[in-house]
Amino acid sequence: MTHPSSTLWRPEVQKILERLHTQADTDDEAIGERVRNDPAWKTASSETKATLLRDAMLPVCRDAGRFLYTAARSMKAARIVEFGTSFGVSTIYFAAALRDNGGGLVIGSELEPGKVAKASQHLAEAGLSEYAEIRAGDAMQTLRDGEHTVDVLFLDGWKEMYLDVLHMIAPRLRPGCIVLADDVTLFPDQLATYLNYIRNPAHGFVSVLVPIGDGIEYSVKL
Ligand SMILES: C[S@@+](CC[C@H](N)C(=O)[O-])C[C@H]1O[C@@H](n2cnc3c(N)ncnc32)[C@H](O)[C@@H]1O
Repeated sequence: MTHPSSTLWRPEVQKILERLHTQADTDDEAIGERVRNDPAWKTASSETKATLLRDAMLPVCRDAGRFLYTAARSMKAARIVEFGTSFGVSTIYFAAALRDNGGGLVIGSELEPGKVAKASQHLAEAGLSEYAEIRAGDAMQTLRDGEHTVDVLFLDGWKEMYLDVLHMIAPRLRPGCIVLADDVTLFPDQLATYLNYIRNPAHGFVSVLVPIGDGIEYSVKL
């Protein structure tokens, strides 16, 4: 008996994902160390931080990427909004899920122009460009408008903005949609306000920490 295959297993998708994960495993720590020691870091604006980290991929790890794919597949997602695209690793996992779901669009967002170009190139290499649109600039502007309801909201930009982005997208979140917030065990202090909000039953979500990678808060809208 033959089983259906996944877009994730296509050679062109495997090749680009493996290259990007390996590059991040090799380079990101040293870049992060250098940037954190830069005197400009402590007082830097969001834009300056994005510039200082322009060469850092900061992607979800392989397990987290497969989790994003499986979550989007199991709920037959067609519309995904992503806050923080970087080099496009998480975007590729989502785009693969959309292809296997029969179509759809992941709308990414990225402050750093060089990263927008790289993410677009990586999606093209994966053969998944038609499932993704990367919007350049501040997500608070670029994700503001959208006529479609959202099946998955992925939060992975600068941590202090998760709640603002959630509030902005909230009118487009349908009952049963999921909000996935990355890095909640890596940055517990910066994400305390977000977690207090999303875990409070008064706000209309059921939420749980998934201990994959740097911790993903998985929240379903009631
Ligand atoms: C952790 S990385 C994203 C990694 C990506 N999701 C992945 O898994 O491959 C965070 C990215 O968010 C971007 N970012 C931060 N604040 C942003 C904003 N206000 N609007 C758009 N992008 C932003 C940063 O430039 C950075 O590249």
